[in-house]
Order: sequence, then structure tokens, then C-alpha cells
Amino acid sequence: MDLSTRYLGLNLRNPLLASASPLSRTVDGVRRLADAGVGAVVLYSLFEEQLRREAELNERMAALGSESYAESLSYFPSTVDDGRDGHRYLRLLERAAAAVDIPVLGSLNASAPGSWARYARSMQDAGAAAVEVNIYYLPGDTGVSGSEVEQRHLDVLAEVKSAATLPVAVKLSPYFSATADVAHRLDAAGADGLVLFNRFLQPDIDPETLSIVRSVALSAPSETRVPLTWIALLHGRVRASLAASTGVEHATDVAKYLLAGADVVQSASALLRHGPEYAGALLQGLRDWMNRKGFQALDEVRGLLAAVDAEGWAAQERADYVSAVREANSGAYGNY
Ligand SMILES: Cc1cc2nc3c(=O)[nH]c(=O)nc-3n(C[C@H](O)[C@H](O)[C@H](O)COP(=O)(O)O)c2cc1C
Repeated sequence: MDLSTRYLGLNLRNPLLASASPLSRTVDGVRRLADAGVGAVVLYSLFEEQLRREAELNERMAALGSESYAESLSYFPSTVDDGRDGHRYLRLLERAAAAVDIPVLGSLNASAPGSWARYARSMQDAGAAAVEVNIYYLPGDTGVSGSEVEQRHLDVLAEVKSAATLPVAVKLSPYFSATADVAHRLDAAGADGLVLFNRFLQPDIDPETLSIVRSVALSAPSETRVPLTWIALLHGRVRASLAASTGVEHATDVAKYLLAGADVVQSASALLRHGPEYAGALLQGLRDWMNRKGFQALDEVRGLLAAVDAEGWAAQERADYVSAVREANSGAYGNY
């Protein structure tokens, strides 16, 4: 069965992508993902903070009048980070892209526009097929307006697009007051793809130790519902490719995202939980489901259950909600 597809203008052998995660921290990791069958790999992110630190270090080196970067590192105690994350990342990207025969995408994690954006060009030169920009920004300041947050996204996209010619996907947070409008504006501003959605760290509170627990929790399939809704609403309404991200655990989750209209489906948690080889099981499950349903190609599946009439879909959702709450109030979920 032919699962080949296109994403960001790239030809992929199938629509399952390895999301940015620690699984791609080494060339071997990328190779394992490729051997497991994924259509493309998004490398873990290079963070704006790492690049800023690197730039600061370079400035300090220049001020010291050091002759060479490598030699100048000896001016600092060994405990000081050598600030070469950018170089290491580009080297990994270069080696990974050469080691596998599927596209490898670079990833930049940023919160604001800045000179770090030029790294998109370095990623392009290192062999990245595209770059994903993860705008990870929690607007905790009560003085920051929604329109400022949205403008930040447009500014970041503009900077990355002006630095490089490779395709750029923007990975969004699920928290906007009008997600469709933000998607539409990013699309108009030249985003080649939209990744729906990023997942915040979501710190927890331990009531025993009275402390904040800052650890990453892997996702659950119930979390597909929000991205599923937005993909269904955006399919056919933006020119940009749509990538689903969050909550894939079973092949049926991949099928649901495709039915909603995703061009590709990304997975991080499931591959971390079960190992990279699990990608093969997800793909086989997708093929089995397509066979069972009589689908020959992805084009027959994609967008089959997208929202044809977005306003009608939204109105229906409200009507369904009202009737579900009525049912609950009349005891449908138990005697309470
Ligand atoms: C341990 C871990 C590390 C991650 N690192 C990155 C990262 O470097 N850059 C990024 O854009 N997303 C990162 N993510 C987010 C994932 O790429 C993905 O968008 C998110 O986990 C939702 O997908 P999932 O439900 O399949 O895990 C990370 C997720 C996990 C669990």
C-alpha cells in the first residue's frame, strides 16, 4: 500500500514523523528512527538561550583578544559551559542528514525574535530539509496583550524566513483566543507548515513536599481532541501543510488525525514510551486500518472528516455541548 505523501513541499515515504525529542540527540538515534520506518525526523531543538549564550561567549573571546576559539576556551574554568551547542547541533544535523535517506528537519526553540534566527541558514547549509520553529512562550506578564503575543509569532517567522530559503514550519501553542486567525496570518506571512500543537511543560504541585514538580509528563491519547478540532477546522483553509502533534499512542490516533485533514502526524511520547521501533507498529496499524476500510491511498483518507463548513462545525460543537450537559444533568453519567 502506498503511504507516500508530501509535507512542506518535501516528498515523504509515509506521513509518520518523529517529533522533536531526545530520541534524535545522536546520529544512531536518528538512524534507529529511520530504520523503524518514519517518513522524516525532526531533530530535538536548539534553544534560543543556547545560541544567545554562545554569542555572548564569542564576544567575550573577542574582547580577550584570543587567537582562536578553541584555544580561548582554556581561559575559562572547565565547569563553564563551552557555549558550543550551536556547533555541536549543526554537526549532528550534518551527520544525521548524511546517514539516512529520509528528510531530517532542524528545530529551533525560541520565545522572541532575535539574532538566533540566522541559525536557520546554518541548518540549511548543514543539510536540513526544513526547519521547525517552536515558539515556546508563556505570556505570564499581565501587561502582555494577545495581539503582542501573536505579533511575536509573525516577527519570529519573518526573521527565520529572511535568514534562509528552506521550508519553515511553525509549531504553535494550543492557547490562542482565535487559533484559526493566527494560523491564517502565519499562512499569509509565508509559513510553509503549521504544527498543531506544542505541549507545555505543565509543572505540577506536590502537596506532600509543598514543591513545584518541573518534569515532562508524556502525553495521553485523550489529548488528541484539541489538535484534532483545529486540524479539522483548518484543513483546506490554509495553504500551509498541517502537521498533527500530541497524543498519538495507537495507529487509530494517526488515522483520526489524517481523517481530520493532517498532512503528517508526529509522535514523541509514544516513541519515547515504547522505543523508536514502535513507529513500525504504528505504520503497520495504519496500513491494516486502511485495508480494513478499503482505502488504497492517503488522499482517500485525508480530510474525509474535516469541517466542510467551519462556522457550522463550531455551531454544532456548541449544540452538542449543550445537549451533552443536559444529558449529564439528567443523570446520564450516574446517580448524583
Ligand atoms: C522529553 C521530551 C522532549 C521534547 N523536546 C522537544 C524539543 O526539543 N523541541 C520541540 O519542539 N518539542 C519537544 N518536545 C515536544 C514534542 O516534540 C511534541 O510536540 C509533544 O510531546 C507532543 O507530542 P506527543 O504527544 O507525541 O509527545 C519534547 C517532548 C518530550 C516528551
